[in-house]
Amino acid sequence: MIQLIRGFKDILPGEVELWQAVETVARELLEDFGFKEIRIPVMERTELFARSIGEDTDIVEKEMYTFPDRKGDLITLRPEATASIVRSYIQHRLHAKDPVQKFYTIGPMFRRERPQKGRYRQFYQINAEIFGVQSGLADVQLIYLLVTLFGRLKVADVKAHINSLGCVRCRPKFKAALSKFLESISDQLCANCKRRKDRNPLRVLDCKVPACRAAMADAPSIIDYLDPECKADFDEVQRLLQVLKVPFVVDKNLVRGLDYYARTTFEIQTESLGAQNAVAGGGRYDGLVSELGGPDIPATGFAIGFDRLTELTGLKADQFYRKPDIFVAALGEKSRLLAFEWVCALGDEGINAELDFGGKSLKSQMKRADRLAAAHVLIVGDDELKKGEAILRNMETKEQVSVPINGLVEIVKGKIIKK
Ligand code: HAM
Repeated sequence: MIQLIRGFKDILPGEVELWQAVETVARELLEDFGFKEIRIPVMERTELFARSIGEDTDIVEKEMYTFPDRKGDLITLRPEATASIVRSYIQHRLHAKDPVQKFYTIGPMFRRERPQKGRYRQFYQINAEIFGVQSGLADVQLIYLLVTLFGRLKVADVKAHINSLGCVRCRPKFKAALSKFLESISDQLCANCKRRKDRNPLRVLDCKVPACRAAMADAPSIIDYLDPECKADFDEVQRLLQVLKVPFVVDKNLVRGLDYYARTTFEIQTESLGAQNAVAGGGRYDGLVSELGGPDIPATGFAIGFDRLTELTGLKADQFYRKPDIFVAALGEKSRLLAFEWVCALGDEGINAELDFGGKSLKSQMKRADRLAAAHVLIVGDDELKKGEAILRNMETKEQVSVPINGLVEIVKGKIIKK
């Protein structure tokens, strides 16, 4: 038997209802906050991700699904959505009409990470991006939106972690101090960090290896190196979060796994996910639009791990699982055809009606109605046809009534909807 690819998964009926419910709540909230949906392709030129996420990141170095297409061009299954949204914003000159734009997108991403709970090779994200706003108000609105959404979805114990990565002016000074520190603890670092410490020292702050984490405990803090503008911006973000009563902690080691960030970065973390503790992450990426060939327009955004969110939400799939409103049990060829017409007409009226497509006995049809947990059963056989009346049974109250076959769909609809 051919099996799923490792790290990939099916989302089956029974579980998918939860995904749909979460998506509906998220979409509604995003649209209430003025975000417009944008749909971008799942594949892009490799160069787009390499340039925006950064050559020295885990994602680009070892996690991308990259292959040559039939003409030899290198293409990549998207590991994230931000780069594609920026590409689209530039390509379609969406900034020309109004640089301020808010987008959201929901869909699968692909990273060849080591699979484990909460970490998949095809996973889903809910992304939101704000273009054209330099003020920290935009970052705070995003964090507020996340916390509000998690509240609505009954996700417990979430906390916003925030940091500022400064800008192109203040970061070099911090990098120099960090490099000096890394040199002093070099012998305690893992091979990966040893290699990265010169090219991209910030990545060492992001390393998950416990020995590296311990060695980094006394690393300099970027916050001490912020220039006056970046410091004022980060102070303002914190002040606004307090105004909105959003609980947060300042986390000096939060550098995120992608290179495009500047100034405010954030993650929503929870204890209940274990090692994969971030259910959402994001931040400001002011240089990316110009880096990818567009005008100098600031931007900020986030992505929620949809899979992790469904594992954390207090909502349950069975709250949303749709059971048949009615099961039509028909006996005999003539009744079965009639039942089939009714089921189609009822479906058209928004009533979930099921029937047995084969010629099973009444007993086995009733069993199936029970198994499906149908709210009502309509019984029709030769006797009923002769009388011109079918029997409608309410499966909860066990109450039975006769329904004239003539005009049955309208009558049944009235009775079911009235209930
Ligand atoms: P990220 O931190 O790489 O950021 O991913 C965001 C979220 O996606 C994570 O917090 C996590 O919940 C989820 N996630 C990531 N990898 C996996 C995986 N292998 N399996 C399951 N869930 C996963 C970004 O992707 C940025 N593009 C976010 C952003 C948007 N920044 C600005 N705008």
